[in-house]
Amino acid sequence: MTVTITHEGVIAVITIDNPPVNALSQALRQALVDAVSTIDADVSVSAAVLRCAGRTFIAGADVSEFGKPPIPPHLPDVVAAVESARKPWVAAIHGSALGGGLEVALGCAYRVAVASASLGLPEVKLGIIPGAGGTVRLPRLIGAAAAVDLVTSGNPLDARKALAFGLVDAIVEGELLSAAIAFAREIAGKSRPQRISERAVPAVEDGFWENVERAVAAKARREIAPCRALACIRKASEVDFSAAMAFERETFLELRGSAQAAALRHVFFAERAASRPPGLAGAVPRDIRSAAVVGGGTMGAGIAAALRDAGLPVVLVERDRATVERGVANIKQIFEASVKRGRISPETSAERMAGVVGTDDYGPLADTDLIIEAVFENLAVKRAVFTRLAKVCRADAVLATNTSYLDPEEISEGLAQPERFLGLHFFSPAHVMKLLEIVPTDKTAPATLATGFALARLLGKIPVRAGICDGFIGNRILKVTRVQAERLLLSGATPTAVDAAMRAFGLPMGPFEAQDLGGLDIAAFQRKAARERGETPFAPVADRLCTIGRFGQKSSGGWYDYPPGERTPQPSDVVAAVIEEEASGQSQKIWDEVSIADAIILPMVNEAALMLDEGVAMRTVDIDLVKIHGYGFPRWHGGPMHYAQTRGLAEIVAALDRLSISSLAEPPCEALRRAAEDGSFRPLERP
Ligand code: 3HC
Ligand code: NAI
Repeated sequence: MTVTITHEGVIAVITIDNPPVNALSQALRQALVDAVSTIDADVSVSAAVLRCAGRTFIAGADVSEFGKPPIPPHLPDVVAAVESARKPWVAAIHGSALGGGLEVALGCAYRVAVASASLGLPEVKLGIIPGAGGTVRLPRLIGAAAAVDLVTSGNPLDARKALAFGLVDAIVEGELLSAAIAFAREIAGKSRPQRISERAVPAVEDGFWENVERAVAAKARREIAPCRALACIRKASEVDFSAAMAFERETFLELRGSAQAAALRHVFFAERAASRPPGLAGAVPRDIRSAAVVGGGTMGAGIAAALRDAGLPVVLVERDRATVERGVANIKQIFEASVKRGRISPETSAERMAGVVGTDDYGPLADTDLIIEAVFENLAVKRAVFTRLAKVCRADAVLATNTSYLDPEEISEGLAQPERFLGLHFFSPAHVMKLLEIVPTDKTAPATLATGFALARLLGKIPVRAGICDGFIGNRILKVTRVQAERLLLSGATPTAVDAAMRAFGLPMGPFEAQDLGGLDIAAFQRKAARERGETPFAPVADRLCTIGRFGQKSSGGWYDYPPGERTPQPSDVVAAVIEEEASGQSQKIWDEVSIADAIILPMVNEAALMLDEGVAMRTVDIDLVKIHGYGFPRWHGGPMHYAQTRGLAEIVAALDRLSISSLAEPPCEALRRAAEDGSFRPLERP
């Protein structure tokens, strides 16, 4: 049973129980319509409370039904039935009232919530718009400005803000159901408030719509849903209720079938599958109640901040008193910046810092559960750290390295109890970036690996298991991107054209702007190390720029010039001259935006196919998550693998063949050709 009705005197209590999140499946929609009729017909009932069992109020439409044809009763009709019920319904909200869940609550005559509840219309995050009156009823209830914010951002409001906006009528203390029943008893005798559908949208000031249209379009960039949602809210303020509902439904159904919605749904489910990698079932993570970070530089400070944000006490270990002070100051700076941005209060910042202990002594780590090493990227330095850690830490403490490119097997060589060791590759800034690559060695125990995934959940990160190779998943693909970007330059494209094409594809920044921002020196250092190993990395132009001291924004310039004090890239004559020299003798072509994007994106897919074949990546979704959460790949493309699959793997192979004939990319690997023949990538499951 998804819906049951019980009675508390004259109050009917409708309980939805549709785990895990009470999503509005077809069966639930039907049961709600039936509940309206039942309660309408019951003369003993004066008012009804609508509540949910389990962890949350209704979390929205059932997203898994979106790929299929809609089956009646449709959600707008369910909400209309609730709104036109003869007895007043009171929505009793705990957890989240999201999307269709909030729309059902808007059909109710009243909404009460516990203080910890959140309410929102997150549909734009799924590439759609609210499809059951959200864009029509919400502005009628809370005004157009607040509705625009809520709907076009997709971000939820906490209950107190919702109360201030008039979205909920009361916040209840104590047990929700009894408080909601008491509320229902009180309103049962009073005259019912005007139905939201019968109200008008309050007037807005002149120029309001033009201003918000500009702002929303600028923020959405190439994402379709926010602007279409705004158009619906505007329509709702201009035409009558039923015309606005028809416009909203038409827009909803159109977007529901769009490529962006399919991509965003793919990411929604991929993110939830991330914490359940194949091969981990049954492994029990260790309890992590305390943590330490060795190295308080860029990464160590960020990791320490992320651990503190999750409530763990943190010991920060540095080399000497001066570096301890600097490391602790680095962490403090992170929290102070959050205070400045209004993200946390000064009290929270102080509380976070009170949980940080800085030391140059390993003694305090004797009873620490998890130690993350983030010292210089140098094998000898890292090994020395783990040798010292092994001497002081508990035998069951989990030891992790944040190395970007070194081999975790080599780092852990000679370590006592190597089964408790693994790579935890955070991305910079570590307290902000969602991606966490989890890199087991051959000796890592399942419990240690499971601890890595449990830690990710605790920190609110997206975990992806990666095998050991140069750069793991993300940085290995990044290398291919950089090679492709230089190939483009040598064959006639300019840095400006490449960056513009990648922004047009949807990335926040092109590869050259990104390198200038991060600095060209780290990659140059890695190429030097690779040459010492006998490899032949390809970066003729970047190498030349580094030899003339052009390391990016932090030096005299990089791929671009930067006028003093400015960060806007200006095309550089010096760089153009270097490119011309390096390109001498190579055939030049005229590149358009789409071909540039293909020359960058398709080789990513090829490298990913290789990694799947090698077992470095376990699932195509993992590669999508790495690119989205670590490198700004547009969510609405679904990640490179979803993008490739949607375009058609045969087409990708043909395009790569064409590029490789002109020496503009590597030819497609066998794994990609095989996948193209099969029509999709074969799932790889490892024990
Ligand atoms: N439909 C189907 N399944 C859903 C779902 C939904 N709307 N929301 C969550 N789930 C599933 C998840 O896939 C997951 O399944 P799994 O265990 O098999 O992986 C399970 O419920 C639990 O989800 P979470 O791991 O996300 O649980 P949390 O407790 O961390 O979070 C939540 C709960 C805040 C409700 C979160 O799940 C969430 O944000 N859900 C999405 C809400 C949403 O986008 N609603 C709008 C839907 S579109 C809509 O309503 C259109 C309407 O306007 C017509
Ligand atoms: P950093 O140079 O900013 O910081 C390193 C810190 O380690 C310094 O504060 C130094 O004093 C300290 N340190 C060195 N030896 C030590 C020792 N024996 N004991 C204690 N502290 C010691 O370097 P960054 O950028 O923070 O990188 C650290 C690690 O993280 C490297 O392995 C790097 O490859 C990796 N990494 C870096 C990323 C980045 O974007 N910077 C991203 C992901 C990983």
